[in-house]
Amino acid sequence: MSEQHTPAQTQAPRKILVTAALPYANGPTHLGHLVEYIQTDIWSRFQKMRGHTCTYVCADDAHGTAISLHAEKQGITPEESVARVNKERIADFGDFHVEFDNYHSTHCEENRELSSSIYLALKEKGHIASRSIVQAYDPEKKMFLADRYIKGECPKCGAKDQYGDNCEVCSATYSPTDLKNPFSTISGATPIEKESEHFFFKLTDFQEFLKGWTRSGTIKDETANKLAEWLDSGLQDWDISRDAPYFGFEIPGEPDKYFYVWLDAPIGYMASFKNLCDRTEGLDWDEYWKKDSDCEVHHFIGKDIVNFHCLFWPAMLEGAGFRTPTKVSVHGYLTINGEKMSKSRGTFITARTYLGHLNPEYLRYYYAAKLSSRVDDIDFNTSDFMQRVNSDLVGKVVNIASRNAGFIAKRFGGQLSGTDCAPELTKAYMEASESIAQSYENREYGKAMREIMALADKANAWIDEVKPWVVAKEEGKDQELHNICSTGINLFRLLMIYLKPVLPDMAEKAAAFLKVESLNWSDSQNLLFNHNINKFKPLMTRVEQKNVDGMMEDAKKLLESMAAATPKAEKSEQSEINKEPLAEEIEFGDFAKTDLRIAKIVNAEHVEGAAKLLRLTLDIGEEKTRNVFAGIKAAYAPEALIGKHTVMVANLKPRKMKFGMSEGMVLAAGPGGKDLWILEPHEGAKPGMRVM
Ligand code: MSP
Ligand code: ZN
Repeated sequence: MSEQHTPAQTQAPRKILVTAALPYANGPTHLGHLVEYIQTDIWSRFQKMRGHTCTYVCADDAHGTAISLHAEKQGITPEESVARVNKERIADFGDFHVEFDNYHSTHCEENRELSSSIYLALKEKGHIASRSIVQAYDPEKKMFLADRYIKGECPKCGAKDQYGDNCEVCSATYSPTDLKNPFSTISGATPIEKESEHFFFKLTDFQEFLKGWTRSGTIKDETANKLAEWLDSGLQDWDISRDAPYFGFEIPGEPDKYFYVWLDAPIGYMASFKNLCDRTEGLDWDEYWKKDSDCEVHHFIGKDIVNFHCLFWPAMLEGAGFRTPTKVSVHGYLTINGEKMSKSRGTFITARTYLGHLNPEYLRYYYAAKLSSRVDDIDFNTSDFMQRVNSDLVGKVVNIASRNAGFIAKRFGGQLSGTDCAPELTKAYMEASESIAQSYENREYGKAMREIMALADKANAWIDEVKPWVVAKEEGKDQELHNICSTGINLFRLLMIYLKPVLPDMAEKAAAFLKVESLNWSDSQNLLFNHNINKFKPLMTRVEQKNVDGMMEDAKKLLESMAAATPKAEKSEQSEINKEPLAEEIEFGDFAKTDLRIAKIVNAEHVEGAAKLLRLTLDIGEEKTRNVFAGIKAAYAPEALIGKHTVMVANLKPRKMKFGMSEGMVLAAGPGGKDLWILEPHEGAKPGMRVM
């Protein structure tokens, strides 16, 4: 055991605020994101199990040009687009058992107020400067262009369609003004240069503070060394303003100037927490954020956003008179079968695609088994994934329960005995508690999983040795059998306590099987004697090759459908909406004939040979489900539809189509193609309800 370790029993409860980076509200949750949200969730669940007050908050990162462009492509307002993504995110995270105490948005009043007050505090202390800068401007779209919205020909090799900072063909680096025949990727117009006043946060005022902060145990040396390259070569002031039009918060006292998204994004951590505190008894925002607070603030982030969290953010907090983070934990990037996650390689797997085929806890375990406190990238290797999950969780852990549970039910009326017949083994299990806890605390999850699986190996070896299945057949050995199986079940229980932060759903099922209220960390120090348990149901099944293959195929299909929809999406289609002339007037009676019903989409799948159609199975509360073909393939991946409610015309005469009978029609709106939305009623709608 390490020296600084304090046993849980003697440690005073800590007050911890933990955050994961706020995901941009402009695209689906993917397996890379989940490395972070699952990792943070494991840590938060672990702290809660240890009896600490731990609050896990997150939010959508709603501001910035990328988000307003994303909304524009769909022909909706940024607010609407953000709301749509928010719903999907909450569903994705929930399905992966990522349990936030609050999931908010940076586009909220709390954040507006906090951002303004932090900015004003920095300004008052002289940490804000302003000066004019010259920037590329799109004269058609009437907006300034960030470098990534400018393309042109490489000044060196002449390659077409290159971004403003480097050439993908000859690897030359240059600045956007060097591009030949530059154009705005938003409107296609040739950018002009234009001057405008910008506001800067004087990061240089915090050079010495940051040198100390980055070496004070807040971040690992690995990361601090990287930052030292910046810190030693001299920091630069940070441009925190953007000109209108911009989706964000207006800077107080500076009309038409907005905060750059990265100014208000980390303040979003505070805002999400504030939103929670305002409606939670006993949770005091000031107590956590005041200078010299005794509470802890932990940020989990990916390696790409270190400078925002370890330079700008602590400096802003320090400058505005708040406490700075206790720890910033940095993780690496996810690769898929050794390749960068990328749309062009077909290795872009969304949370939904995964969920369509595989149990979320497989992934939670696999990530845990691979994670360490280092910044290394981690690889999702599909065959390693199957092998690990099957051999560890199914082969080792669940196996211990299934080898013993049957006898307890059949021979002993579901009651455990009062004797521990492997005291050395149970002692080893209990003693492992603190070392496993240290590994979780230090984000050495891989180490924790190895320790837990080594314990599971010991239990299986012991069971192999004492052979309950042989004892069961011997005369007069009932007590021995009872003790063996009861001890086996107890060992399984201890393993499930240790695995609970990673496998909350399986732990819940195990608790139901064991008939215990909960599984807390301190419960690992006792055993269940003379205790009734339930009948055993398999807690987890094996990962099958066909499910993994199915996921990879769907990932490819989703990308193909996204690619097919891209070219025209580049251009705004807002103007095309409402262009279609209205159909001829009808009598009320004609309208009244349509029987509109709420339908639940219980299944959605691709139709072989159909370019536009999906086959939907709809539940409208009738005995039989309805089969309907809908031309929405370009707009929705099948798995994005499953579970949603929509509106259907239920009394449309069945139509025979090439692919089968279509028994009704679902209602959707939009210009068509990718930009088509099924109508989704939310509040209280139940399958079969009439729509009026
Ligand atoms: N909006 C910013 C964060 C603001 S925090 C105040 C952002 N959003 S993001 O959606 O791009 O990324 C969210 C988190 O997911 C980041 O920590 C990022 O590092 C992480 N990941 C995104 N892709 C990832 C992988 N492929 N692999 C691992 N983590 C990845 O950055
Ligand atoms: Zn080039």
